[in-house]
Amino acid sequence: MSRRSVNPWHLVEMLGDWSTGRGPLYRQLADAIARSVDQGDLRPGARLPAERTMASLLTVSRTTVVAAMDLLKTRGYLDSSPGSGTWVRAVRGFNPAGGIVTPADTVGRNPLFSRLGAADDSVIDFTASVLSPSPMVEAAIRSASREAGDVVDGPGYHPSGLPALREKVAEWFTGRGVPTEADQVLITSGGQQAIMLIAAAHIQPGDPVVVESPTYPGALDAFRLVGAAIRTVPVGPNGTLAQDVLQAIEARKPILTYLIPSFHNPTGTVMDEFERRRLARRLQDHPTLVIEDESLVELPLDGVEVPKPIAAHLDGVLTVGSASKPYWGGLRIGWVRGPADLIRRLTHYKTVFDLASPVTTQAVVARLLEGSAPLLVDRRRQLGAQLDALITSLEALLPEWQWAPPQGGLSIWASLPWGSASEFAQVAMRNGLAVVAGPFFDPHSQHDRHLRLPFVLPPVTIRRGVERMARAWEQYTGRPGVAAHRPA
Ligand SMILES: Cc1ncc(COP(=O)(O)O)c(C=O)c1O
Repeated sequence: MSRRSVNPWHLVEMLGDWSTGRGPLYRQLADAIARSVDQGDLRPGARLPAERTMASLLTVSRTTVVAAMDLLKTRGYLDSSPGSGTWVRAVRGFNPAGGIVTPADTVGRNPLFSRLGAADDSVIDFTASVLSPSPMVEAAIRSASREAGDVVDGPGYHPSGLPALREKVAEWFTGRGVPTEADQVLITSGGQQAIMLIAAAHIQPGDPVVVESPTYPGALDAFRLVGAAIRTVPVGPNGTLAQDVLQAIEARKPILTYLIPSFHNPTGTVMDEFERRRLARRLQDHPTLVIEDESLVELPLDGVEVPKPIAAHLDGVLTVGSASKPYWGGLRIGWVRGPADLIRRLTHYKTVFDLASPVTTQAVVARLLEGSAPLLVDRRRQLGAQLDALITSLEALLPEWQWAPPQGGLSIWASLPWGSASEFAQVAMRNGLAVVAGPFFDPHSQHDRHLRLPFVLPPVTIRRGVERMARAWEQYTGRPGVAAHRPA
């Protein structure tokens, strides 16, 4: 059996919040690895990272790792031999599949989604940047739901979307300076499905795709799932620069280029109008398909202008949007806007994925879009207060940490003065705080000095979370290996 080494960062992602249960750490670690094997995330033949590497990334002693490995060997999960390391045994009826790691191996280890629905109240969750409905949004959803009954008619399958919602989304784009007809809009089950449909329809295994770094991990998952060869462009303090994107496109010849130009996740930056025009001018006749993800476009911070989509300057762009961020993720409604022929193609893929999105929630979103102005004002006010709570707590308790103030969106991209964010996340988890480290936002596990800190929780919870973060930072920086890097 061929043995593929497991990327140590991927193993950490897979194990998630492994250390928050009861019992000694070595047994919790063994249980978490056994779970990954049982779920098929760790395949037979997969070679585990060296004990020293695991100990360092998980911030436990080497003795803990050795004891966990021994336990797993006794339980029949692992094998080892001198010189060949430790690997997963072909047990529990698994077909080793030649030890080949498929793109699907990425699925199920995304930490941002693994905590969604977790029932554990003792942990403050700074992992997902998703909002609960504010009282005003909740009231609007309830009243729109009551009025949405008139769509309960006929078979109810609308693969390209409920006509009334397609119209509304088209009007919304037209109002933002991008004239749009309803047949240029496909309604999807969230922005995530929109990205996945585009990936499935356009990418073959091995095709190059350019993304920003850092970027939204759900998009990385989608591109990995179809086997894309992912390349990156950096996001600067003022957003992604056209010149960097153009350079990457020249060098990599990507099939597809995925950008989050408006209130970027995770950095909160904006690609300004000048850069958008510059990019558009140079890409007029270029074959790369540009995807602009506008899922966060309705969330500017006070006084920040919302730019027009790149699609206002360049034909052929696919613009992804979502009702999740301004309203509520539980609606599960998003959309793609683009040329009608591409939209038809994506609609065929949509029917393979789920035939159509639910008409009732589509009707609710159509009504929300009609009366959106006060809801959005309320949402932005809520986010402003939450960001204030995050910033004032960080300034008071973690003054050495740095970040650029975001222009909008739901998170700040904080940088640690030293140490490893992945290691720190392990210590934070043991202090009752779940945070996501920078490497999850990059296809090649870069950015281990960074953490994404969302401001999606109520101010009081954010303050408590930062208190736990400060306690964890004190513990982490007191560790002998880390303290050595601390500047005098
Ligand atoms: C940039 C971006 N795109 C897409 C999504 C997916 O959102 P949804 O599927 O809930 O619409 C998210 C969610 O965090 C996101 O941040």
